[in-house]
Amino acid sequence: MNTNEFDDIPPYNDDSEIEQIEILRINKPQFIELLQVGFEAETVEGLRAYFRAITERLHDPNDELFQVPQGIEDVQFGKPYLIAELNQILESFSIERAHYYIERLIKSVREVRTNGINDINLNRWKQYEDIYTDSLWQIDRRDSSGVHKAGYWGNFIPQIPNQMMRRYTKPGDWVLDTFAGSGTTLIEGQRLGRNTIGIELQERMVEQIRELVKAEPNKHGVKSEVKHGDNLAVDYQALLAEYGVSAVQLVIMHPPYFDIIKFSDDERDFSNAESVEQFLEMMGQLVDKVAPVLEKGRYLVIVIGDKYVKGEWIPLGFQTMNMVMQRGFALKSIIVKNFEDTSAKRSQKELWRYRAFVGGFYIFKHEYIFLFKKR
Ligand SMILES: C[S@@+](CC[C@H](N)C(=O)[O-])C[C@H]1O[C@@H](n2cnc3c(N)ncnc32)[C@H](O)[C@@H]1O
Repeated sequence: MNTNEFDDIPPYNDDSEIEQIEILRINKPQFIELLQVGFEAETVEGLRAYFRAITERLHDPNDELFQVPQGIEDVQFGKPYLIAELNQILESFSIERAHYYIERLIKSVREVRTNGINDINLNRWKQYEDIYTDSLWQIDRRDSSGVHKAGYWGNFIPQIPNQMMRRYTKPGDWVLDTFAGSGTTLIEGQRLGRNTIGIELQERMVEQIRELVKAEPNKHGVKSEVKHGDNLAVDYQALLAEYGVSAVQLVIMHPPYFDIIKFSDDERDFSNAESVEQFLEMMGQLVDKVAPVLEKGRYLVIVIGDKYVKGEWIPLGFQTMNMVMQRGFALKSIIVKNFEDTSAKRSQKELWRYRAFVGGFYIFKHEYIFLFKKR
């Protein structure tokens, strides 16, 4: 199978945008003051009217709550979350209950409580509705916003590095992607304010990544660097030293799924491994090389799928997972993610169903995201 065979397959690129949660940036001292005045209401009715008025103000983009002059702290909320919190206050049946909810909201504005690995404010955990916590990911639409392109056969959907970076890094952290491909991790990192370093064997892809990250706004001023070469030949300590850091906080590996897609003719390409055993050995070597530069207590993510050989299912994913566990990493989660239907797959659906009936097998519809923690 050669990548070129797929060049004429139109990428699945649904024009409709993925729904984004509206983020409100609010003047923090003013908002706290406004909430505190709520304690003065003497009746439930008075309190309801007061908080209903605050909720209405959130729908007016010109309201002074959204004016944050320089030097004044802001606080950011997902709009649906904040409205739900205010509704909870105004739906309270007693003043005491309402006071409890007001207190809680004020605390969540004043204090940020995190787990130290990311910047998710645990005092407002309900706000992060778009961050997944389940192990089954059924995502039917790729995020194709901005410079993200669907065209590189074998890339992953941007939601994967997005979710991983938001759960397992903080803004300003460093992320290493050892199979950068078309640069999905780098683009997403730039958006999220994470520094990224990618390694990619194919020069044409390296050039493409550089163009894409240049075209993507860099509002957090982070580094999005890509190195051309074989990830097994990189001196990772020396590479990081170039950027003045000694360790990364997250490693993402999205290798070829052995030979399912042949990415190049280069013998160093993991898709050209001679056997499953050799592929696993290469993956093992890579984990050994990269582990020393991953900060202790931080995460390694491997995205990989299985394959068939002569009608038999080869559990490449679990074999890779075992290899990493044997190296002392703690397995934190196995996420099963669906393969979204590309237009090519949709047009061949009937044929594959027929083949499945004939051959007595099931059609691959999932891949794995293995999550490991360095002990
Ligand atoms: C599955 S793709 C990664 C796609 C990427 N996640 C994206 O979203 O575009 C695997 C990539 O690994 C690259 N690759 C294979 N062997 C490599 C090696 N030894 N060193 C660096 N890159 C390699 C391939 O050229 C291919 O671009």
